[in-house]
Amino acid sequence: MSGVGPLQVDPEARAHLRPMMQVDIEAVAALHAADMGQSLWAELGGGFLRALYGLLVDDPGFIGFVTERQGHIGGFIAGSTDADAMMARVFRRGAPLLGARALPALLRRPGLLRRLAETPRYARLSALPGPRVPAESLFCTVEPALRGQRVAGLLNEALFEELLARGHSFVKITTETSNTAARRQLGSWGFEERGAFAFYGKDMLICTLSLRDHPRLKPRSRHPMLDRAAPR
Ligand SMILES: CC(C)(COP(=O)(O)OP(=O)(O)OC[C@H]1O[C@@H](n2cnc3c(N)ncnc32)[C@H](O)[C@@H]1OP(=O)(O)O)[C@@H](O)C(=O)NCCC(=O)NCCS
Repeated sequence: MSGVGPLQVDPEARAHLRPMMQVDIEAVAALHAADMGQSLWAELGGGFLRALYGLLVDDPGFIGFVTERQGHIGGFIAGSTDADAMMARVFRRGAPLLGARALPALLRRPGLLRRLAETPRYARLSALPGPRVPAESLFCTVEPALRGQRVAGLLNEALFEELLARGHSFVKITTETSNTAARRQLGSWGFEERGAFAFYGKDMLICTLSLRDHPRLKPRSRHPMLDRAAPR
C-alpha cells in the first residue's frame, strides 16, 4: 500500500466514536438529509429515512458508527458485511413501514417512483468482475464544522477494522464521480478504482480497498454482533 501513511488524529477524537444505536436514528437521518439531500432515500422524506435507519440498525449485516460529543452526533458511517443481502432483507421485512413513510413524497413527486424502480439494479450494476466483494461502505457524512479533521478517516477506520475482524479481506464503495471530497477520502486510504456505471442518471465509480496488511488497520471489533443468524 504505497503512499498511505498512518491516520494522524487528535487522540481525543477516537474516544468520541461508538457504534450506531436506535437512539441515534433521528440525528443520523437529519445528517443524511442535510449532506446527501439529493440521494433517493433523502428525497423520500425524513420519515422514510428514520424508518430505514431504524431497520438497518437492527439488521445483523449492518455495521454503523457515530461520532458523539456532549450528546451531539456530528457524523456517521453506515456499512455492511453484505450490503446486497442486507438491503434485500430490510426492504422485504420493512416493506409496509417503508412504503407508508415514502407514500407522501411519492404522491407529491410521482417521478421518484421511476428512480425507486431502478434501485434493484444497483447490485448488478455495481458488481465487479471476479470474486464478489460483499462488504460495503454505504454512507459516510461529517457535519461541515468537523470536516478536514480526519473524523471521516476515523469513521472509515472503525468500519474497516470491524470488517477485518469479521474475516473480510476487501471492502467496496461506490461514489459519484463528481464527489471530490469523497474521492479525497478514498485516495487517502489507497482505494483502487475498479469500474464505473450510471445510476439514477449519475456517473458512479466503483472502488475497492484491500484490508489485509493495510498499514492503518488492525482486526479490531468494536461493534456488537447480533447473535441471531442472518435471516434469509
Ligand atoms: C466525504 C466527507 C465525509 C469527507 O470528510 P472530510 O472531513 O473531508 O474527511 P477527512 O478529514 O478524513 O479527510 C480525508 C482526506 O482528505 C484530505 N482533505 C480534507 N479536506 C481537504 C481539503 N479541503 N483540501 C485538500 N485535502 C483535504 C485530508 O487531509 C484527508 O487525507 P489524509 O488523511 O491522507 O491527509 C465529507 O466531505 C462529507 O461529509 N461530505 C458530505 C457527504 C458525502 O458526500 N459523503 C460521501 C458519500 S457517502
